[in-house]
Amino acid sequence: IFDALAQQPADPLLSVIGAFRSDPRPEKIDLGVGVFRTESGDTPVFRAMKAAERRLLETQATKAYLGPEGDIGFFEALRPVLFGAADPRERVFGLQTPGGTGALRLAAELVALARPGARVFVGTPTWPNHPPILKKTGLEQVSYRHFDPETQAVCFDEVLAALETAGAGDVALLQVCCHNPTGADFARDQWKEIARILGRRGVLPLLDLAYQGLGEGLDADAAGVRIVLEQVPAALIAYSCDKNFGLYRERTGALFGVAANGEGARVAHSNVLAIARAAWSMPPDHGAAAARVILEDPALAADWRAELASMRDRIVSMRELLGTIDPAFAPLTRQHGMFSTLPLSPEQVLRLREEFAVYMPNSGRINVAGLTRANVEPFVRAVKSVM
Ligand code: LMR
Repeated sequence: IFDALAQQPADPLLSVIGAFRSDPRPEKIDLGVGVFRTESGDTPVFRAMKAAERRLLETQATKAYLGPEGDIGFFEALRPVLFGAADPRERVFGLQTPGGTGALRLAAELVALARPGARVFVGTPTWPNHPPILKKTGLEQVSYRHFDPETQAVCFDEVLAALETAGAGDVALLQVCCHNPTGADFARDQWKEIARILGRRGVLPLLDLAYQGLGEGLDADAAGVRIVLEQVPAALIAYSCDKNFGLYRERTGALFGVAANGEGARVAHSNVLAIARAAWSMPPDHGAAAARVILEDPALAADWRAELASMRDRIVSMRELLGTIDPAFAPLTRQHGMFSTLPLSPEQVLRLREEFAVYMPNSGRINVAGLTRANVEPFVRAVKSVM
């Protein structure tokens, strides 16, 4: 039976993990997959997470099933972090998902069920997993330019022009903060303009929030969600706890939906539960349970916020250092989060890997958190010598 299958290429981003690991050169620099790293190159478990896990180990009385929505206490505890004072209350529905990827897939399945002909507007470049996730659900994708590599900034006119061609019932997939792969985010005023267009044209926002707290702060990073919700009756928000709780492999996320009214939310909720049941039945528990313990305990929550803030500060300081070492990198200081995309060709990326042991995906995306005070100068020299 499997003879009918064609060989698939390895995932270009995830294959950087293995290639880096097998490089014996001690000076090697990993700017590949998006995990936070400390100055010593580690991706530690948050202090508050360790404490929460210990507490779970001691107090968890059962691992019996929770149901397709997962840990509803986790979902409820995350709500104020996401919505702040602007929680749409009875209009909210949703559930815990296996990572932000599970939330995105579920959101796309829900749209495909509700509006099979909907088009999804996606700015490019985007997270390389966005198009395949959408493709699985059969939704048509419309792409437009989000980012200009020359100016290293958002092409805002092109974003607006594209959204003005979206019709009622179409979807706009927008990254809320720390844009992956470019770091080029919308400013608050730009979100306001986007929100007005979405509201006026009846476009459903599908907001991807995978890095809350790693850009400018927990509230500032959620501003796009809160501004958009002022102008639209309905929205979907795919939330990931991979980076801001350091839960990566635990696959912890949530899909938040906002419907026009409470009854709409109840019906939509029953649909996401049914889709989740057929896809994964129930999400993995551990990461969400531990995140809930943190969010429900004021002392642990304060420590989590403090550690998140120190991670954010480290990323910002690496961006500033890049700009100080070489003015060509100055535009990166205006970007947010872990990623920037350098104007490098795949050949230049290959030379960086072979000649300088600097690892990044072919797209030229770098994980700024992979830079340290010790490796940033050799990194800049390597980039300069292949450019
Ligand atoms: C990344 O973009 O590096 C991360 O989101 C990991 C992934 O799954 O692609």
